[in-house]
Amino acid sequence: MTGFPRFHPLHTPGHGVSEEAVCRAGPSLALVKYWGKSLSGDNLPATPSLAVTLGGVHTETRASLSQADDDTVSVDGAVQDPARYSFFFDTLRRELGISARFRAASTNSFPTSAGLASSSSGFAALTGACARAAGCAASTADLSAIARAGSASAARSVFGGFVLLPAGARRAQQVYGPEHWPDLRIVVAVTHRAPKAVTSRRAMEETRARSPYYFSWIKKSSDLLPGALRALESRDLELLGETARHSYSLMHGAILGARPPILYWLPATVSVIHACAAMRAAGVGAWETIDAGPQVKILCLSKDADAVIARVGALGGGIQTILCRPGPGLQYGPGLP
Ligand code: DP6
Repeated sequence: MTGFPRFHPLHTPGHGVSEEAVCRAGPSLALVKYWGKSLSGDNLPATPSLAVTLGGVHTETRASLSQADDDTVSVDGAVQDPARYSFFFDTLRRELGISARFRAASTNSFPTSAGLASSSSGFAALTGACARAAGCAASTADLSAIARAGSASAARSVFGGFVLLPAGARRAQQVYGPEHWPDLRIVVAVTHRAPKAVTSRRAMEETRARSPYYFSWIKKSSDLLPGALRALESRDLELLGETARHSYSLMHGAILGARPPILYWLPATVSVIHACAAMRAAGVGAWETIDAGPQVKILCLSKDADAVIARVGALGGGIQTILCRPGPGLQYGPGLP
């Protein structure tokens, strides 16, 4: 995948002036979790993951070609560490067959540090905006492979709806568009706003190197995929929710097994888990999942969303909720609402 045809170039080689390209992406919420990398060094996932791309929240990235020697990225106004982006930009240039440097600024429509998988939407939007700024017409699948170099979950965010990233895969694939399940809702319960102490990347590595449960997790996560795909196909919330709960519980069990243990949950996280159990016991389908942080994401149907938001709000402690639904893949400006 090199040397993509250029479309309507925004850049005149030699003059160094380019217009800004704008791209949006929604965060990718995994129902079957990616946790662990193959040892190839290429940021390939060791587990399959199945996710929904969230609508109602997004990262928006503005990118242009730069005359500087290095790529620069800011997120919500904060300049980012170039080391975190170098493999991504090297991959982007290699895959698109270009040598340009980029200047990019991203903003999240959701609260920063809300634990909403901002690296998935962030690297997906960055990929789309940079490819546009360079005038490269790459397919969504190829953009997925580039985004993966930044964050494996970002390979999923370039697609809308329900997205699969198989174990060892270079790119994700859409399983269904967002229209497949328009009644599905995801209530994000933000329990704590400070940035997490251990990044998911480091915690993944610690789990692989120091948890006796890591290889059981890798095996079991693959076993969960067929049931999750069946549940998705038949829009069976109970089966999907039960599978998603098992996936996050196994993942956090493996993380907690590291030495020293890594515990992302706070008391408020546990109180939301219990609130979901109480709602299910009372006949409200509320199925939680948790990523590498203290926030809880609750799957439910649109008819129950108000009840779920009220129940979580009643827990107090400053827990805030954000209502999301299955959303679109990459969207390009100008003219975005
Ligand atoms: C818990 O995609 O952020 O959210 O590839 O190292 O950047 P890197 O990791 P990242 O990990 C996401 C982990 C997760 C589960 C998931 O989204 O599947």
